[in-house]
Amino acid sequence: MSPLYERSIQIIKEGQSSTGAYIASPNFPTYSYCWLRDGSFIAHAMDQASEFDSARVFFHWVGSTIQKYSKKIDEIEHRLDNGIPIGKDDVLHTRFTLDGKEVTEDDAWGNFQIDGYGTWLWALAEHVRLSGDNALLLELVEPIHTTLRYLDLVWRLPNYDCWEEHPEYIHAYSLATVFAAFNSMNSLMDQLLIPSNEIPLRKRAMEVREFILTHAVSDGYMCKHIKPSRQIKVSAPVIQSGVDSSMIGLVVPYQVFSPDDLVMQMTIAKIERDLLRPGGGVYRYRADVYYGGGEWILLTAWLGWHYARMGRIREAQVLQNWIERQMTSEGYLPEQVSEHLLAPDHYEAWLNKWGPIASPLLWSHAMYVILVNEIKKAKQNE
Ligand code: BGC
Repeated sequence: MSPLYERSIQIIKEGQSSTGAYIASPNFPTYSYCWLRDGSFIAHAMDQASEFDSARVFFHWVGSTIQKYSKKIDEIEHRLDNGIPIGKDDVLHTRFTLDGKEVTEDDAWGNFQIDGYGTWLWALAEHVRLSGDNALLLELVEPIHTTLRYLDLVWRLPNYDCWEEHPEYIHAYSLATVFAAFNSMNSLMDQLLIPSNEIPLRKRAMEVREFILTHAVSDGYMCKHIKPSRQIKVSAPVIQSGVDSSMIGLVVPYQVFSPDDLVMQMTIAKIERDLLRPGGGVYRYRADVYYGGGEWILLTAWLGWHYARMGRIREAQVLQNWIERQMTSEGYLPEQVSEHLLAPDHYEAWLNKWGPIASPLLWSHAMYVILVNEIKKAKQNE
């Protein structure tokens, strides 16, 4: 086992607050909060590494944080029922301070991002599957129901994507997390592990899947953005946004589609053509300018995760090796590496704005831990 594996677990443990929250990055002030998106993948990595206690405390932190703000949902329902616009602070936020409060220092942040709410329920279901900790579901029954109700109300609304951009659109990735939340909670309810609620979850999951298929596919592959419907015009894919590596999520882990579905085969092939550098790493999307648009560690691991699931072990291993080569002398994995920038002219401006690229990024370490475990499992199944 590479030393990076143990180091990654250590960095994640050091980055977990006594409250249970995982800091996105301890060395990058802008990321000194806990994102539900990053945190859920980090918890899943800890589950894969059999560090169940760490994941359990995180889920409790999420549960109490969501309940603190759950009253907002009545107001959202009222506004939606009466055609009153939803303001930026009426929604549940995407990131919180480590003691579970909304971040008020930066008023301009795009707080309306629904994917973290889908991802935490997916990760929670995985935690129960891997650890057998059924009791946790009853401890968290209120935030589970709150989240399902929230997602049921908002999933068709435009909101920020998983890169915190394009609030004017709906996103295939975010919808995939909603599908996984509805689907996984429905199956736990069928097993009588959680009391059911009034939402027909199975039916809703199918509606979300159908929505993605009808509105996000163009030219045979999955587009990342969907333009919401306005009056008589129906929702439509935003073709110029192109493909995005986060589309891997539609197959693994959210299983909205099978990897054998033609549209996903075409989408992954396009990601490999447009966004994978030979031997690694992986870009987010071609027009990325954030820190000049480098290759992301977590996306390289994500593609490797897909390869491992497909039995493409050698290719997964190549990506694991690439990630290991990116480790700094402190044993850190950054958010992205800048050797082959897509938009080098933009690098300096970000450096001046927020300082050097976040490193270590806990989500990068988490995805590496997941990849190592997935390759191990794939080898056992060979
Ligand atoms: C990324 C988000 C991530 C956040 C914290 C942002 O730059 O776009 O996906 O959740 O950083 O890591």
